[in-house]
Amino acid sequence: MANSVQRAFDLAAEDYDRTRRKLVPGFDDFYRTAIDLIPFPHENEIEVLDLGAGTGMLAAFIAYSFPKARITMVDISNEMLERARERFELGGERFQFEVSDYGIAPITRKYDAVVSALSIHHLPDEQKRLLFKRIHDALNDGGVFVNAEQFRGATPELERLNHERWIARARDLGVDEQDLAAAIERMKFDRSATLDDQLEWMREAGFRSIDCAYKNLIFAVYSGRK
Ligand SMILES: C[S@@+](CC[C@H](N)C(=O)[O-])C[C@H]1O[C@@H](n2cnc3c(N)ncnc32)[C@H](O)[C@@H]1O
Repeated sequence: MANSVQRAFDLAAEDYDRTRRKLVPGFDDFYRTAIDLIPFPHENEIEVLDLGAGTGMLAAFIAYSFPKARITMVDISNEMLERARERFELGGERFQFEVSDYGIAPITRKYDAVVSALSIHHLPDEQKRLLFKRIHDALNDGGVFVNAEQFRGATPELERLNHERWIARARDLGVDEQDLAAAIERMKFDRSATLDDQLEWMREAGFRSIDCAYKNLIFAVYSGRK
């Protein structure tokens, strides 16, 4: 499964950034909310781990808002991470890149913030639960986990409606039909969990101050503190 996800994103890397605003309706609020949930003064030298960083989209928002943050970007797809390397090539030591599968690779350092966008839903549920625990262990006291994620509707009916509304909204935004078809093809590798389950796994992992600050169609942004 992890290999299929890696191949799907290796193939998507070239066109990934171009299609984002149309495939994620509410793009600005979605990423902005993720940044707002990082509870540290913006001038702090925070250590950030971005799981499934891809081309560095979320990391770029963080780098802009927290100009002294040091950001480690992890991704299973070297092609996606190559775009992130290009994006941050003038940034120097502040930006680190690791090609690995965070579903199995240990998190070996401590961080002030662990963030992720649109990635963890590729793991099976049991691995998601274990990852939430590992993230909690990897945070400094007071640290935060912010997950800007896809979720599955709470019932099959809600899942179908949310999915249909997402497609309709992407079309309203003028998405290219080929790009939409490619995104739907990639979604075959999704293993999205309901929002309730994800928030419950946060509680189980030991997080406090858990809150879902954004929810729209199939997208949600939630966080918890250690
Ligand atoms: C939809 S992209 C999101 C990229 C970026 N976070 C963003 O917001 O644009 C999902 C990324 O997660 C990565 N990914 C999926 N499963 C992974 C895993 N188990 N370990 C590391 N990266 C993974 C994919 O390779 C892909 O680059």
